[in-house]
Amino acid sequence: MIDTLEDTLKRAEKLVFLTGAGISQESGISTFRGNGGLWQKYDPMKLASAQAFRDDPRLVWRWYNDRRRKILAAKPNLGHMAIANLQDHRQVSVVTQNIDGLHHRAESREVTELHGNIFTTKCTKCNFRGKIRDEFFDLPPSCEKCGSYLRPDVVWFGEGINREVWNQAVMHSISCDVMIIVGTSLAVSPANKLHSYAKNNKATLVEINPENTPFSYKIDFSIKKTAVDALPRLISIFESLSK
Ligand code: OAD
Ligand code: ZN
Repeated sequence: MIDTLEDTLKRAEKLVFLTGAGISQESGISTFRGNGGLWQKYDPMKLASAQAFRDDPRLVWRWYNDRRRKILAAKPNLGHMAIANLQDHRQVSVVTQNIDGLHHRAESREVTELHGNIFTTKCTKCNFRGKIRDEFFDLPPSCEKCGSYLRPDVVWFGEGINREVWNQAVMHSISCDVMIIVGTSLAVSPANKLHSYAKNNKATLVEINPENTPFSYKIDFSIKKTAVDALPRLISIFESLSK
């Protein structure tokens, strides 16, 4: 199977990586679903929704601070790095559902963050946007413009993805030769529709995930391994081609 995949990859000019929490799992960051997943421990509606923030801003903010601390202590892993290294050989875009910024820290240049970034904030009332550095206070900061609470600039349950961000993700998906889907359960819409945009445009779909997903049956090449196991090996194919 790897041989045929190799042939496909050799011909590919543009690759898109659609990533989810699983790619950061080997950096020590919890996934959402499955064993040890955040949504097994916590109720997402009580921590990751606008209503939850209105009901208890301190609780929500402290939970995000805990996640920020864990993310800051983590490092991009060999999976993130392998994707960034591929930029030297091919046109590469990353479309991620992750808010941890690890693709940026691995120095991927073209990253679309579908669900935002945990280190950014936006005002609950006006259009002010800000950044969080490494000082975490128990209460959300106040807006510099209007004094209202700032909230994490991430997509919460019941909210839509920013239109420009979504259009960019679709544009990458319809123009790639290969889409490599890494570490996502494909349980969340609309991110789980992007592979159809790619497929309808005749792209080859590759999935890297130790588990099956609801869309595994549509995948051309399924690699049942972890991101750190599979990605460096896959990307070494390109390195040997450029020599
Ligand atoms: P999930 O937690 O739903 O899925 C993680 C996937 O990664 C699963 O399919 C695992 O089998 C797989 N996995 C686990 N460890 C892995 C590893 N080391 N290498 C490769 N794969 C591994 O995470 P997402 O699909 O990213 O949304 O979740 C999507 C969205 O649901 C998140 O962005 C978040 C959540 O609610 C919002 O917060 C808006
Ligand atoms: Zn404001």
